[in-house]
Amino acid sequence: MKLMVTWLALVVQVLSLENGLMRTPPMGWLAWERYRCNVNCEEDPDNCVSEDLFIEMADRLVEDGWIDLGYNHINIDDCWMACERDENGILVADPKRFPKGIKYLADYVHSRGLKLGIYGNMGNKTCMGYPGTTLDKVTLDAQTFANWTVDMLKLDGCFSSPEDRAQGYPAMAKALNATGRPIAYSCSWPAYDGGLPPEVNYTLLKDICNLWRNYDDIEDSWQSVLSIVDWFTKHQDMLQPVAGPGHWNDPDMLLIGNYGLSFEQAKAQMALWTIFAAPLFMSTDLRTISAQNMDILQNKLMIMINQDPLGIQGHKILKTKDNIEVFVRPLSKKARALVFFSRRTDMPYRFKTTLRSLSFTESPYLALDVFSGELVGIINLDSEFTVIINPSGVIMWYLTVP
Ligand SMILES: *[C@@H]1O[C@H](CO)[C@@H](O)[C@H](O)[C@H]1NC(C)=O
Ligand SMILES: *[C@@H]1O[C@H](CO)[C@@H](O)[C@H](O)[C@H]1NC(C)=O
Ligand SMILES: *[C@@H]1O[C@H](CO)[C@@H](O)[C@H](O)[C@H]1NC(C)=O
Ligand SMILES: *[C@@H]1O[C@H](CO)[C@@H](O)[C@H](O)[C@H]1NC(C)=O
Repeated sequence: MKLMVTWLALVVQVLSLENGLMRTPPMGWLAWERYRCNVNCEEDPDNCVSEDLFIEMADRLVEDGWIDLGYNHINIDDCWMACERDENGILVADPKRFPKGIKYLADYVHSRGLKLGIYGNMGNKTCMGYPGTTLDKVTLDAQTFANWTVDMLKLDGCFSSPEDRAQGYPAMAKALNATGRPIAYSCSWPAYDGGLPPEVNYTLLKDICNLWRNYDDIEDSWQSVLSIVDWFTKHQDMLQPVAGPGHWNDPDMLLIGNYGLSFEQAKAQMALWTIFAAPLFMSTDLRTISAQNMDILQNKLMIMINQDPLGIQGHKILKTKDNIEVFVRPLSKKARALVFFSRRTDMPYRFKTTLRSLSFTESPYLALDVFSGELVGIINLDSEFTVIINPSGVIMWYLTVP
């Protein structure tokens, strides 16, 4: 065992498969959180995992302005496959739900200017029991995805051992690279190994994956958002330095537009994901999303901050005894994003502070409110200001050097 680990470490050292993709966090739409493994097209044709669902969402992305803001990925998750591989061992799409096949879908979304993401699983089966990518199938599956002109792969890790993953995830990186097609690579690997060193080697992940799921799947509830925020902030000193252009921590999909979050909570998720330099994958019904939720997701200043070219992940700098938390993200041109987050559950809270007490050392800054777009004012290091933060809500500022 010891010998094998050493050998793996050696193999791994020569692997650096920088594919030049995802210099800023990816944006788009991913089916899982909202549509799960709904394969019941007979009774629920509008919401089952099918070709039609992806075509309709692709149309919405293009026709409702999403693509122009950067939401250019449309990503399939589990349950797209037929129950068995074909006679040559090649993965096939479910013939009832995807009658035209994945290549057709890729051609369609490309014709609309979008990129197609697909899902596979490093292990014996996918999480929902469809054919997995065992070690002997890695090269074949990479070539299949490349033949279909897929642009991104999310590789899950159900039904695998730590050793399978230690071999399989780097092997898939190598196999994708060998196809010659640029395919962005999302690795669920760390989430299956506790998300932390020494089990997780973030130096290696940075070299082979464009993004990785560190922690639990998001569920449609505020509780789930909080548990993810807590985990990311608890481990921020370890996670913050490993993010950057081409390689991102992924706290999972945005819930905005679904059932679990209030208006304030939806804004809070958007603001915190932007501070985390997180991928912005929506997972909601774009055919019926409300104007209010669209406003949150289509906030241009928010997206500009999320997509800042330096790609530095922000972090929590303060938690007060009154349950107010403050997050900062450094941006290009010495700008900063600042989020005041209330964990309170009583009433809007008046938080009084100065930039100096938030560890700022330079001033003045010009502050813009990210949600209203309004000018807050010029703020000096010691000028005292008050923000009024709603329960489980945020105030978010964009600070620039005037
Ligand atoms: C494969 O890896 C090499 C070395 O890092 C890189 O230059 C090349 O662009 C990669 N090709 C693809 C298709 O990802
Ligand atoms: C990919 O396409 C090539 C060229 O058409 C073909 O030879 C090969 O068998 C295909 N591989 C898979 C896995 O589909
Ligand atoms: C995967 O399948 C193989 C062969 O049946 C089996 O030996 C192995 O224990 C399985 N691994 C897991 C993690 O289920
Ligand atoms: C982590 O991976 C890097 C890059 O492949 C390697 O150089 C390093 O030795 C690994 N670290 C550990 C603790 O295995």
